[in-house]
Amino acid sequence: MAKILILHGPNLNLLGDREPHIYGSDTLDDINQRCQVQCANSGHELTSLQSNAEADFIDRLHNARRDGTDFMLVNFGAFTHTSIAIRDAILATEIPFIEVHLSNLYSREEYRQHSFFTDIAIGCIVGLGAQGYELALQAAFKRLEN
Ligand code: DQA
Repeated sequence: MAKILILHGPNLNLLGDREPHIYGSDTLDDINQRCQVQCANSGHELTSLQSNAEADFIDRLHNARRDGTDFMLVNFGAFTHTSIAIRDAILATEIPFIEVHLSNLYSREEYRQHSFFTDIAIGCIVGLGAQGYELALQAAFKRLEN
């Protein structure tokens, strides 16, 4: 059994309501519940955090260094494009992670086309909507087996 952590960034609490033509109609609860079932079916433990505050992610990542977290999925929302502080915190964990984005960053505004996380992630899934989390978990399970 592995411990998997999903971090959801600012404004993702509004999923379902927020620009559904870009982010889809699933709510964050829908996504978390499906991930929960997927993890339970594979014998893994899932915890998740959504926050609108950068400091919450930094603190959670500091805890992840000590709480036995084996793998992470992260979508830091707009902090993806701005936060060197979260990048430093995630590097300090030395925990492998996959970066997920619901929308295709590369078909959007130029300021969304740089991520502070892509170069240090195992991999990145963008533009596949909520399905991106499911695919990222499948990839995580495979890695955790090896
Ligand atoms: C996002 C893309 C970001 O640019 C944006 O700020 C978000 C969501 C995505 O999942 O597509 O909040 O991370």
